[in-house]
Amino acid sequence: MKRGKYYITTPIYYPSGKLHIGHSYTTVAADTMARYKRLQGYDVMFLTGTDEHGQKIQRVAEQEGVSPQEYVDRIVAGIKDLWSLMKITNDKFIRTTDQSHVETVQKIFRKLYDQGDIYKSEYEGWYCTPCESFWTETQLVDGKCPDCGREVELTKEESYFFRLSKYQDRLIRHLEENPDFIQPVSRKNEMINNFIKPGLEDLCVSRTSFKWGIPVTFDEKHVVYVWIDALSNYITALGYLSEDDSDFKRYWPADVHLVGKEIVRFHTIIWPAMLMALDLPLPKQVYGHGWLVLEGGKMSKSKGNVIDPVILIEKYGLDAIRYFLLREVPFGSDGVFSNEALIQRINSDLANDLGNLVSRTVAMIQKYFNGTLPEEKLAGDPDDDLISVVTGTPSKVEELLDQLQFSTALSEIWKAISRTNKYIDETMPWILARDEDKKPRLAQVLYNLAESIRIVSILIQPFMPETPLKIWELMGVCENCRSWESAFKWGKYSGTNPVRPGNPIFPRIDVEKELAELEKINAPANAAQNIPGILPQVGIDDFAKLDLRVARVIECEKVEKSEKLLKLKLDIGIETRQVVSGIAKFYKPEELVGKNVIMIANLKPAKLMGIESQGMILAAVYGKDEKLVLATVDADIPLGSRIS
Ligand code: MSP
Repeated sequence: MKRGKYYITTPIYYPSGKLHIGHSYTTVAADTMARYKRLQGYDVMFLTGTDEHGQKIQRVAEQEGVSPQEYVDRIVAGIKDLWSLMKITNDKFIRTTDQSHVETVQKIFRKLYDQGDIYKSEYEGWYCTPCESFWTETQLVDGKCPDCGREVELTKEESYFFRLSKYQDRLIRHLEENPDFIQPVSRKNEMINNFIKPGLEDLCVSRTSFKWGIPVTFDEKHVVYVWIDALSNYITALGYLSEDDSDFKRYWPADVHLVGKEIVRFHTIIWPAMLMALDLPLPKQVYGHGWLVLEGGKMSKSKGNVIDPVILIEKYGLDAIRYFLLREVPFGSDGVFSNEALIQRINSDLANDLGNLVSRTVAMIQKYFNGTLPEEKLAGDPDDDLISVVTGTPSKVEELLDQLQFSTALSEIWKAISRTNKYIDETMPWILARDEDKKPRLAQVLYNLAESIRIVSILIQPFMPETPLKIWELMGVCENCRSWESAFKWGKYSGTNPVRPGNPIFPRIDVEKELAELEKINAPANAAQNIPGILPQVGIDDFAKLDLRVARVIECEKVEKSEKLLKLKLDIGIETRQVVSGIAKFYKPEELVGKNVIMIANLKPAKLMGIESQGMILAAVYGKDEKLVLATVDADIPLGSRIS
């Protein structure tokens, strides 16, 4: 039976590079809520996506020598792959380059213009491109962006403005009357005192100095400011102002927008004011979580810790990573990520506390009762205390999850696990097993252990998508005693399915050995040289799919308007090929003519700056600033010879 709707969103991500483990924080948290609400019986809408326009993306694409669209297509595919690897259960994935989104943003802009909430004027002030934020002279700190500390650019251009100032009083009233609107409370005070009370100025909402954005329909040299474009995703994804707006009617307003602390400002000032102007209800809550940082500062590749989520998941499993993200730091606060802390958590909480509990219980049921427990459910001391701790846990977990307190919710579950482990020490089943008369008591003890594990395995489902099923299979937990509601009732475990002893659910990790291995992947010496770790193994069949050939450069010229690209004509013996390569910073065209290089001859053609490239030539990349040297063949051998 459905308990109503629940709409949760993550921010939409900038496809401006590879995502690190910190990026996955918001998405894993939102996924946990979505899973939890579905288990409770809510009709859930969970939205995530990508924020693909703006000056920042345009610049990165230019540096890479590709069109912005080609650039975002490539990166967005990687983001989607990461979410699927992390078993993120989003119901929709919106891209701000989706035609439907573009059209609705244009309609929103027009509507606000027609009703006088947007007007034309001129912007003169400072712009931080990495943050895509406008700042006044007085807001700058030492002449730099107050948010990220980077250089800002003086900008003067004709712009459209949104009457943000008009909504100041309504906004303050809304925040006062709805104390839960911004969570945690500290962020609410920061917004009111630092931003709203000093006075809201009208906001510049269009740009003319670059092109990569949604065109304003009635004035095409303007593109919509990227935050107006991006924030709208929360309603465009639901079909607002489109032919089919049934999802919008069903799910809006959002129950919670989950965002990192640095973007609370956009979500609690600009976004509500836009919604007020559109005469739409406001989201019920904006939750600004803290940041995961590395010791000594922000998260970035070069700090010695492995922060690539794909490598971490491959090494330790998805559930361990998700558990760590949500357990280590109270949601809302900043926290430090380190590989050592991750391994310690895996060993103590997952391998020792939970993993051992399951393995020992399964082993004892197997050994003493041949895998199947008799129906013995009597309880006495110390059973009562165990039962009261474990049965008290589900409602505490619900209460905490409803406040997005993931870490404390997990710690409540782990209290139940510890209580259960203590129960083994108290009851000492191996002593009971020595005496045939005590068999009924032994059955009772093991039953209580099995039942505690059943309840715990249900409660960890929102956090860990893989472990519960493993536990159910090991423990023989029947299908109709796995539901969320059944965690609230003691006595559902039935001994009808035999246990099936198997591998430990979380193998223990040798801390020192593991840290040394991680060091190899990210050794500081190598990091300085930017030498990457070895990729996962491939079979010889995978390698054989690549057709590598010796090719001679017979012509070469610079690609117009690109700093990076050269266009080469290559002779591969049987035919000639045109290849576009990002090596212009390292070679002059005339240096290359006559060189024998190695090319991948069967790579699908691609267009770079509109020019077709029919293959790729190989180069060694080195150093922090990614210099490169072409791989060449210096013997005089027939062109087109295969490299195998
Ligand atoms: N595109 C904007 C959001 C537009 S929403 C209408 C954006 N994108 S982002 O890719 O920079 O960040 C996406 C999310 O990742 C944000 O919630 C951000 O706080 C989060 N994180 C990025 N690095 C992080 C950590 N190191 N730790 C925790 N979360 C962090 O902002």
